[in-house]
Amino acid sequence: ATNGHKRKLTVRLCGPRGFCAGVDRAIQIVVLALKKYGAPVYVRHEIVHNRYVVEGLQERGAIFIEELNEIPDTHRDRPVVFSAHGVPKSVPADAENRNLFYLDATCPLVSKVHKQAMRHQRLGRHVLLVGHAGHPEVIGTMGQLPEGTVSLIETVEDAERFSPPEGMELGYVTQTTLSVEDTADIIRALEKRLPTLRAPSAESICYATTNRQEAVKEAAPGADLFLVVGAPNSSNSRRLVEVAERAGARRALLVQRASEIPWAEIGEIAVLGLSAGASAPEIIVDEIIDAFAERYDVTVDLAITAEERENFPVMRPLRDVELTKS
Ligand code: F3S
Repeated sequence: ATNGHKRKLTVRLCGPRGFCAGVDRAIQIVVLALKKYGAPVYVRHEIVHNRYVVEGLQERGAIFIEELNEIPDTHRDRPVVFSAHGVPKSVPADAENRNLFYLDATCPLVSKVHKQAMRHQRLGRHVLLVGHAGHPEVIGTMGQLPEGTVSLIETVEDAERFSPPEGMELGYVTQTTLSVEDTADIIRALEKRLPTLRAPSAESICYATTNRQEAVKEAAPGADLFLVVGAPNSSNSRRLVEVAERAGARRALLVQRASEIPWAEIGEIAVLGLSAGASAPEIIVDEIIDAFAERYDVTVDLAITAEERENFPVMRPLRDVELTKS
């Protein structure tokens, strides 16, 4: 493909793709906090699951930590930002005990799930959380309620095995970034066995997750290869890979940067599907298209299934900074 005679490649580019309103807001909060309060600004957990974003913020003066006790005593006056995934209630409580100034960048749609879980409990229901063990959002949602009052359901098998506490009504919520179809299967399995199970009053899977999966379903059938830009610990990105495979892409892969594209294994391809998880910046999508354009005669076809207008404003103390943004 180097002699000026490149093979033709159609890139089916999904839309919506990439940043969601919650990720965009979380990054803005760190950037605006740096601007208003100066460096360093502490950030508890990767603000969003993307190395490129994290490194960019580190260069501007953000310091990433996993727990609040990593903030040195001499820096107790520095702001600390909580990530978009949400935090257990113990985290803001701990911050208050330590007299820290915190900015909570939890996505409003994650906070909504927290409220639904609390509402179930207020109504006397034992809470079931459908999600993946160990994911920060799951840790955060479970941490809204006292230990032992939430049961985590990860799979249809879990749903079939679950034995409810005697005599209690049940209510469920889910992680915001799950596969729409897998979740429906799990809920169906639960409902079949547990007649008192109540749904949350609003869908937990968020608009961004749903829209990105829809666009992938549109673009995947017949694609020789499908690439999803995203990190291995990004739940919504990993779901996009599964959705692409299930919708008929011959092969689907998660890549963080163009440098991770396994050129030698790709073989002959004529149609490439391309999307990006909610935490992946558009600049990496461009980088990937450019990398293919060096090797192929690329035509980009858009697979657009929805238009997004969601925009989540930052918290009040940072709004005046935003106005003077350069
Ligand atoms: Fe929020 Fe959904 Fe993004 S919950 S952070 S809008 S993936």
